[in-house]
Amino acid sequence: MEQPTPLVIDTDPGIDDAVAILLALASPEVDLRLVTTVHGNVDLARTTENALRVLHLAGRSDVPVAAGARGPLVHPMAERAGHVHGAAGLGGVELPPSPAALDPRPAVVALADLLLASEQPVTVVAIGPLTNIALLLAVHPEAADRIGRLVVMGGSAGAGGNVTAAAEFNAWADPEAAQAVFSSPVPTVLVGLDVTLPTVLGEDGVARFAAAGPIGETAGAILRQYMDHARENYGVDGVVVHDALAVTEAVVPGTLTTVPRDVVVDTGLGASRGQTLVDRRAPSGSPTAVHVAERVDSPAAVEFLVSRLVDLAGRG
Ligand code: BDR
Ligand code: CA
Repeated sequence: MEQPTPLVIDTDPGIDDAVAILLALASPEVDLRLVTTVHGNVDLARTTENALRVLHLAGRSDVPVAAGARGPLVHPMAERAGHVHGAAGLGGVELPPSPAALDPRPAVVALADLLLASEQPVTVVAIGPLTNIALLLAVHPEAADRIGRLVVMGGSAGAGGNVTAAAEFNAWADPEAAQAVFSSPVPTVLVGLDVTLPTVLGEDGVARFAAAGPIGETAGAILRQYMDHARENYGVDGVVVHDALAVTEAVVPGTLTTVPRDVVVDTGLGASRGQTLVDRRAPSGSPTAVHVAERVDSPAAVEFLVSRLVDLAGRG
């Protein structure tokens, strides 16, 4: 087998973030070298603690965790997403604390150090607001140039929004950062609501990994609150695994069908703040085009996730 691709996850755990981290740990195609945390679903102190605890749950407290931005670049967020993810971010499940200490470096420094030291191209998968990545572009552009692929969960081309009628949560949480990232030449894949919303993990899938061992059982418990939220709010029996789909594309490039598009983020303060305006008139030839995911085989993506989690749970 080829050498695993070095991977960094920039994240705001978050229930689907926790599942996404477990998926990366279950995947031999990638070598998770660093987790950086960002404000988002809950505050930075909680997202950071949750990242440490999720890694510990999987027996991987050796993976360094570095804390990043406490808030968006310009305008404070109006609300977080504790109503979706639970006040502490993991659906009411209290994971045991990790014995590992937080990496003392700010996330952006840890990320720049890793990018500059790596002999192989690094894949960065960003599954929270894009504040850390925008700061990397501003502060360490020479390191950002070394990103092999940036896979972002965020935005929406035609599916509308989830946090507002117009905007997807991660883009809405820091639109100025998202605009900086989507207008940069970093090779970026955008995994938005168009492909994540149809990718629903059902009760049967959860039951399979929950039965496979203690890690799977805990992952199932974390997902329970998210399932209740989806049933009550969207009438869906199952959970949309937004962030895990982005990690799947990072692990197996080409899982999603992408088209190069010019993407602009609405950074105004009106009703469509955070909306991603994806120019779908024709594929873009611009060096800053974003590769927008437009097609997904959702049953295959869900099966990939479930089988990897069954495997991980069996190891624990
Ligand atoms: C995104 O928002 C967050 O609540 C999820 O973790 C995911 O990253 C989906 O819009
Ligand atoms: Ca997230």
